[in-house]
Amino acid sequence: MAELMQGLKRSCYCCDVNESMVGQEVNLMGWVSRKREFGHFSFVLLRDRTGIVQVVIDKDNSSDDVIAKESEIRSEYVIAITGKVQARTEENINPNMKTGRIEVNVESLKILSEAETPPFQIEDNININTELRLKYRYLDLRRPSVAENIITRHKVCQIVRNFLSDNGFIEIETPILGKSTPEGARDYIVPSRVHPGNFYGLPQSPQLFKQLLMVSGFDRYFQIAKCFRDEDLRADRQPEFTQIDMELSFVEAEDVMTINENLIKSIFKEIKGVEVETPFLKMPYNEAMERFGSDKPDIRFGMELKNITDIVNGSEFGVFQNAIDNGGSVRGINAEGCGSFPRKKIDSLVDVAKTYGAKGLAWIVVNEDGSFKTTISKFFDDEKIKEIAERFNAKAGDLILICADKDSVVFDALGALRLEVAKRLEILDPNEYKFLWVTEFPLLEYSEEEKRYVAKHHPFTSPMDEDLEYIETEPARVRAKAYDMVLNGCELGGGSVRIHSQEIQKKMFKLLGFSEEDAQERFGFLLDAFKYGAPPHGGLAFGLDRIIMLLNNTESIRDVIAFPKVKDASCLLTNAPDVVEQKQLVELGIEVAEVENSEE
Ligand code: AMO
Ligand code: AMP
Repeated sequence: MAELMQGLKRSCYCCDVNESMVGQEVNLMGWVSRKREFGHFSFVLLRDRTGIVQVVIDKDNSSDDVIAKESEIRSEYVIAITGKVQARTEENINPNMKTGRIEVNVESLKILSEAETPPFQIEDNININTELRLKYRYLDLRRPSVAENIITRHKVCQIVRNFLSDNGFIEIETPILGKSTPEGARDYIVPSRVHPGNFYGLPQSPQLFKQLLMVSGFDRYFQIAKCFRDEDLRADRQPEFTQIDMELSFVEAEDVMTINENLIKSIFKEIKGVEVETPFLKMPYNEAMERFGSDKPDIRFGMELKNITDIVNGSEFGVFQNAIDNGGSVRGINAEGCGSFPRKKIDSLVDVAKTYGAKGLAWIVVNEDGSFKTTISKFFDDEKIKEIAERFNAKAGDLILICADKDSVVFDALGALRLEVAKRLEILDPNEYKFLWVTEFPLLEYSEEEKRYVAKHHPFTSPMDEDLEYIETEPARVRAKAYDMVLNGCELGGGSVRIHSQEIQKKMFKLLGFSEEDAQERFGFLLDAFKYGAPPHGGLAFGLDRIIMLLNNTESIRDVIAFPKVKDASCLLTNAPDVVEQKQLVELGIEVAEVENSEE
């Protein structure tokens, strides 16, 4: 190939060509997106990572060499052209193309590489099977919209590095081969050859190392860190993902929040030209749950939850009364203007609630004449229904959806319904950015599975000073110095002020059911480090992938990762995970148990 280039140098990218360059000669290189013949003209759409520019071959006025090469080129051939930029005539201007006002008149043309017909057409706005796209991800990445996501990602990393460096942070890498970190998901583990039977854990986050770095005195650390979590994948979750991770010493929660508001402000300003208002709203966890049924509320719209336990208490309706008697509640939302939904549509909302654990939903429609249509008329007279409707400020044409159960189910179901109704009403504007901090999270969460308290964030999160007195008597009541940054219903990041007193850390471990030996065994290196002068510290980590998703309005986290995995955590391009050679297993002292062969 070297001689092919013959000293030819690209002068600019395809999308750098603009009207100010009319008359200039340019050297472009890229892939043939399309070729169209029109009389003695051949129009080639030339694509590189910046996008597409039209180049024109006028066969009546071209050399034999250019004409011969032109006849050879097909889609996805790699070519180099030299030509003059010319303005398009008025009727040929394409307002949908960044380079739609110009074209390049080809004077010489070289074919740098031939290409087979690709397995799918490499263009935006066409429907391509996801599996095929991911199998040929390197071709998918040629599509301008996908390339743009990857480039945005680079730009965001650049802004993060500059912003944090300017604010005194030092970028430090922490190990990938480490010991398991307590973030609550399952670890990916790597067998050790030198220590047969022993395993490294891939980091779920750099949490423990970043706290050690605080003990070392690097009082402001950051890292754009790969993290690994073996958990069920969703639209916003991948088994390996990237955090913008940071930790600061000599700070309180407020300081961490302010820095991160400013970081987000500069990202949105530079990438989207959007002026984000700071400081962000702060909402305690309890308020978020009561009002929105979610610890990551989308506050672009209302439709807030209302508690009607007091109104319906004492009725004959077993479903409501049992929930109340068992310590639960009866709450609902007003799906404004949805009273005209046909029965089938309302039933489908009931199904949504059921997928979140609700056993059912009661509903009330306010008719145009102010009367009610409801599933609970047997148990509540008009007067009561009216009282309920008033609590929701319901007016003619509204639909009230009510759920009775234990609080966790009621919140989950109504929180999800609220989003579902908003989606159906198409009232969510993706270009409206409503940031907030959710604060005062509970320190602990009772795990039914493990029959013990587990840390809601992680075991090193500090309790709030004013709740310390309840830590032994009423642990469920203790709130944490933890905060999550939420944007439009998505948790962008989270962090906390950490415990740096050994005494409180010991109490915390006791609460979590770790014996002193357990704690020493799992986290001994951190506890030991804390004996040698640990500064007060706290930090936060953003999900980088999620930030890019929101910036570019993509539907899946896969769209912002160059080589993502699919739902079963495999890579369709490389076929990972895969079996390894017996020799490798022997070296590692590993014997694989007989796996049931799913006959494929
Ligand atoms: P946390 O577990 O909340 O905190 O993670 C921080 C952020 O990382 C993103 N995230 C993910 N993104 C994609 N795929 C996943 N599987 C995934 N899991 C998490 C989210 C989340 O808000 N060490 C603490 C941070 C700290 O306390 O400083 C931590 O990891 O956007
Ligand atoms: P049933 O007595 O099961 O026929 O239910 C009577 C009404 O109560 C129906 O509209 C049900 O959908 C509704 N319902 C059932 N379970 C619940 C629940 N957990 N919360 C609210 N309404 C419910």
